[in-house]
Amino acid sequence: MTLWPLLLLAFASPPAGKVVFDTDCGFFGDDGAALAMVLRSPEKVQVAAITAVSGNVWAAESAAYLTEILGLLGHRELKPYVGAQMPLIHTAEMARLEAPLEFQGAFADPPKFAPPPQPAAMDALAALAAAVEQNPGRITILALGPMTNVALLLRLHPDLERKIQRIVFMGGNVHVPGNASAAAEFNFWFDPEAAQAVLRSRIPEKVMFPLDICNRAVLDKTRFDEIVAARTPVTQRYKEDYGQRYPGFLKNPNATGFLWDELAAAWLLDTGFVTRSETAWLDIDTRFGKTYGATVPLERRLAPDATPVRVMLDLDYPRLWTLYKRLLTAN
Ligand code: RIB
Repeated sequence: MTLWPLLLLAFASPPAGKVVFDTDCGFFGDDGAALAMVLRSPEKVQVAAITAVSGNVWAAESAAYLTEILGLLGHRELKPYVGAQMPLIHTAEMARLEAPLEFQGAFADPPKFAPPPQPAAMDALAALAAAVEQNPGRITILALGPMTNVALLLRLHPDLERKIQRIVFMGGNVHVPGNASAAAEFNFWFDPEAAQAVLRSRIPEKVMFPLDICNRAVLDKTRFDEIVAARTPVTQRYKEDYGQRYPGFLKNPNATGFLWDELAAAWLLDTGFVTRSETAWLDIDTRFGKTYGATVPLERRLAPDATPVRVMLDLDYPRLWTLYKRLLTAN
């Protein structure tokens, strides 16, 4: 008997539950879209905390952007926590020696470490730890930026590693080239050592949305127009970001972008849009040089207890787009 029907059944129902939303959100972008999707699906996902990390922008800036977006989404009660302001090892100075790079994120700007406008009662690491401690086996970490906060959590509280239910993350490139460097995807490249700590960890379930699947979710001007036609406060911000900044559809109608973080968020709402995946033990190349941050197979003797990763490879794009459009254009 083929196992397909059983596998489809097992993956058909979304893993609803409590989520810590860990993000390097900038002005809006894919992180902002992912936040809208999650917050507009309270029947599927309850956000236990929002934690900011440096990546696209510096963590404190990210918290300020998040506060603005949360206002647009009608969730002023949620206060983002500022987490790791710097990667574990990687620096802007190192990045300068790594040229050519496609994208450097926050490394391209001077560090902005100012506290957010309304300092949260605790920092991101305390919030993450509290969420896991108070909900053992019931917290999904949705990691949409570099893994610095999650790696620090694992180092500060090794006892919590097995109490995390799962981590669902956007990052890495398994069978395709990188997008920060030729070898590495941006989130993993920005903090390779943090990604390595997470991939070598014993977190019970790891669900990875690498460039392999994201490259198949192309955002073009036609799809952009479908979203901005809604003319809501959220789609106005979307229009400004995707229209005037990256990929700049209003300046260049032939530009293309990708859905990245939205795919990881969407999986919490509808696992059925993924059509192909594989399971692998993965690691990160942390040797400084051209391959810094590349996703590689794990030499298992280095981390015998590491759990494997479910690597998402392909999708039913029309199905995903229907979900994305409904949630992005909602009032
Ligand atoms: O490589 C894509 C990732 O980096 C996404 O998380 C996106 O936000 C970008 O900065």
